Amino acid sequence: MIREMREVIVAANWKMHTTPADAGELARAIAGRTRVAGVTRVICPPFVCLATVGDALLELDPDIGIGAQNVHHELQGAYTGEVSAAMLAGLASWVIIGHSERRRDAGETDELLGRKLGRAVDAGLRPILCVGEQLDEREAGQQSAVVRRQLRGALHDRDPAKLAGIGLVVAYEPVWAIGTGRTATGADAAAMAVVIRDTLGEFGFARRGETIPVLYGGSVTSAAIGEFMAEPSIDGALVGGASLKPDEMAGIVARAGVTAVARGLTG
Ligand code: PGA
Repeated sequence: MIREMREVIVAANWKMHTTPADAGELARAIAGRTRVAGVTRVICPPFVCLATVGDALLELDPDIGIGAQNVHHELQGAYTGEVSAAMLAGLASWVIIGHSERRRDAGETDELLGRKLGRAVDAGLRPILCVGEQLDEREAGQQSAVVRRQLRGALHDRDPAKLAGIGLVVAYEPVWAIGTGRTATGADAAAMAVVIRDTLGEFGFARRGETIPVLYGGSVTSAAIGEFMAEPSIDGALVGGASLKPDEMAGIVARAGVTAVARGLTG
């Protein structure tokens, strides 16, 4: 079954933590603890640590994907302090797009995120598109409508075949669960994965989005991951705070590995 064949992914979002002086050591520590068959691992350090992390993993564990946390929506130009997709070539093969902290702090809109998706695809970067509702929206029962709006806004000008071809991943990250220690339930996340794939289906994604991995993010820890990995519609996690702790990453990836085995991804 298609559903059981979907990739299992654990992506680490280091946010604004680590420096070029210590990022390599952390990457090596995580690599040493997370060699688990069938799990795709990704580390997203700050821009200035991408090269260090790449060098640290080059020989030790080249299977770990390296991702950026953002990319600019223009090709190049007078955008002081920004980083283009072309600049990331050779340093990263993944990119997080639309993290709620960027929506909040940098005012990133769905339309802008759509353009970033386009730049990522054209540069060969595999996007992790983040969506998720605020607490008041969840309390008002608007979570599905919010996530549909975010996806429609980002995807309406994009080519689904290209996005699927590069391996688009969607991360459902309810804003009220990020960095708060309060996770959604597995059932909440699974319900939102259905909404996400249903919305992808509107855009002509093959098999109504059934092939697109959907991750959960928001206060994921080694203790919390099991509830999400037990849901067949959830394909892994985008991990923030716990991704800075090699022991936590070891536990999270190990649990993801159980799902990978169950899906027959390890053979
Ligand atoms: P958190 O962050 O795991 O610290 O809640 C998740 C994220 O923001 O991707």
